[in-house]
Amino acid sequence: MRCVLISSRLDLRRYLGPEISLIADQVELVEWKKDGDPDVRLAMAWHPSNDAFSGYPNLRAICSIGAGVDNIVGCPSLKSEVDVVRVVDPGQAQMMSGFVAWHVIGHQRNFAGYQAQQRDRIWHSGPQRRADSLPVGILGYGAIGRKLAIDLAYLGFSVMCWSRTPKRPATAAIRSYNGPAGLCEMLNNTEVLVNVLPLTPETRGILNAQLFANIRRGGYLIQVGRGEHLLESDLLAALEDGQLTGAALDVFPSEPLPRTHPFWGHPKIILTPHNASDVSVRAVAATLVTTADAIRTGRRPPHAIDRTLGY
Ligand code: GLV
Repeated sequence: MRCVLISSRLDLRRYLGPEISLIADQVELVEWKKDGDPDVRLAMAWHPSNDAFSGYPNLRAICSIGAGVDNIVGCPSLKSEVDVVRVVDPGQAQMMSGFVAWHVIGHQRNFAGYQAQQRDRIWHSGPQRRADSLPVGILGYGAIGRKLAIDLAYLGFSVMCWSRTPKRPATAAIRSYNGPAGLCEMLNNTEVLVNVLPLTPETRGILNAQLFANIRRGGYLIQVGRGEHLLESDLLAALEDGQLTGAALDVFPSEPLPRTHPFWGHPKIILTPHNASDVSVRAVAATLVTTADAIRTGRRPPHAIDRTLGY
């Protein structure tokens, strides 16, 4: 089946690399054309331009190249009946888990403080803190949130997770919350907050002053969702005021982060360039194959999102 590559930001063919040739007998990658092609039923997209889908009236499904689909679902030329498929890659969840654990432990063990001490040649051993005294709240309990919860619980942290609708926690050690009241309850018990929510109209701006005020004083934010979840000035105010002691930020509304942005030089912020984790080309290829197969056989592709919810 032919699959049109659509992106205003990336050369998708180069991004996929030679490994994609492994599925060449099942999916033929073709370039986007201004005039479109009514015979094409499958696309792979990342940040499509507004009119990207106009010439492709018979598309049945669009595959993302990542876990997130927020950059696709808002495209004005995308018809509401077209399936949008996310990549679910256990390897991505595992990498994300290592990244988040590093920051959680950094907060628990005061790594930033010891780094500052080293700069000043100070030998001072502060109190050691046990993992079970540190409550971690995870916003989002999909494939990635679930992996973070399991691994952090295994490391001994007191783990809570929140989702819009009720979800059964993976182990008895994880407490789960849902809905607006559940969010408030979890935040009140949270010291380190990890955001892995999908970006939807409902979650845009969710990391704001009101939310920060609800978590324990001296809390810490690990932001690996999407930049648009965070109200940046509210974070700066919470850090200034001591409500938060620090933040690890991997995603930003404008990437690369502009060189003049105040986050760069902020002493309480650890910043990484949207590389907490990534999906593998192998997982993207597998998603293309299962989606093409679903189109051929008239089924809904696995991991197709609910278009009314946006995730
Ligand atoms: C990364 O941002 C992804 O969506 O997988």
